[in-house]
Amino acid sequence: MRDKGVFIIGTDTEIGKTTIAAGLGFLLTKNGLRVGVMKPFAADSKQYSKEFLSRDTKILKEATNTQEHNDIINPFFYNIPSAPYLVSKIQVKCKRIDPKKILEIFLELTKKNEFIIVEGMGGLMVPLTKNLYIADIVKMLNIPVILIMSNKIGTINHIVMTSFLCRHYKLNVIGIIINNLFNLKERKFRMVNAVLPETVNELTGYPILAVVPYIKSPNKDKIARFLKNTNMCKLFF
Ligand SMILES: Nc1ncnc2c1ncn2[C@@H]1O[C@H](COP(=O)(O)OP(=O)(O)OP(=O)(O)O)[C@@H](O)[C@H]1O
Ligand SMILES: [Mg+2]
Repeated sequence: MRDKGVFIIGTDTEIGKTTIAAGLGFLLTKNGLRVGVMKPFAADSKQYSKEFLSRDTKILKEATNTQEHNDIINPFFYNIPSAPYLVSKIQVKCKRIDPKKILEIFLELTKKNEFIIVEGMGGLMVPLTKNLYIADIVKMLNIPVILIMSNKIGTINHIVMTSFLCRHYKLNVIGIIINNLFNLKERKFRMVNAVLPETVNELTGYPILAVVPYIKSPNKDKIARFLKNTNMCKLFF
């Protein structure tokens, strides 16, 4: 185990951050580690359930069996599905972002757990306020980053931009996971997919930790079983 935790960043929203974070959390928990989770910012058009404001919070909690409640895992929830800065322009009375609170919770969780998995919101440049981005939160927590990208057309542009930003912010990126969200069966797509990992590694300089296949109805068990045999796991065991 190299560090106290990892920040899971996507090149975009809906890229598989929660799916992979839950798989990793479940795998580490099954191997006897006490794992804490955080989703500092979440937004959806409505509250998920009485107990959990966002679905991600529920998935992350269940994957790791953490006893923490919604407000600790997810201190900032917005009921308009957009970046917090945009929401603040619509709902002038919405919860004001306090990065100190996130740091306090994170440090408290590091005392109680052996490893913390933090899921971002969208990509690195989601604006939280006019001059505060998700990237600033990663920097503040000072933990290694795993980047998640998909196999959709346009992904190479997103991952190269994200890697440039990581260098700009001097983030400690431990590697990239390519998540095959899209079941692209056509021969030409398969040819692109075959050269994607080496090309991403070449252009970003970051190692490819895993290439997750398209999985019908993915869940923590399926993802954990897959991650067990990848480079990703060598980082942890
Ligand atoms: N490898 C995969 N194969 C098939 N479907 C996948 C795979 N990974 C994720 N998905 C599906 O893609 C969707 C988005 O995944 P997920 O919720 O993990 O993304 P996210 O990046 O956490 O999104 P958000 O930005 O809303 O937090 C989900 O329906 C999930 O089941
Ligand atoms: Mg998510």
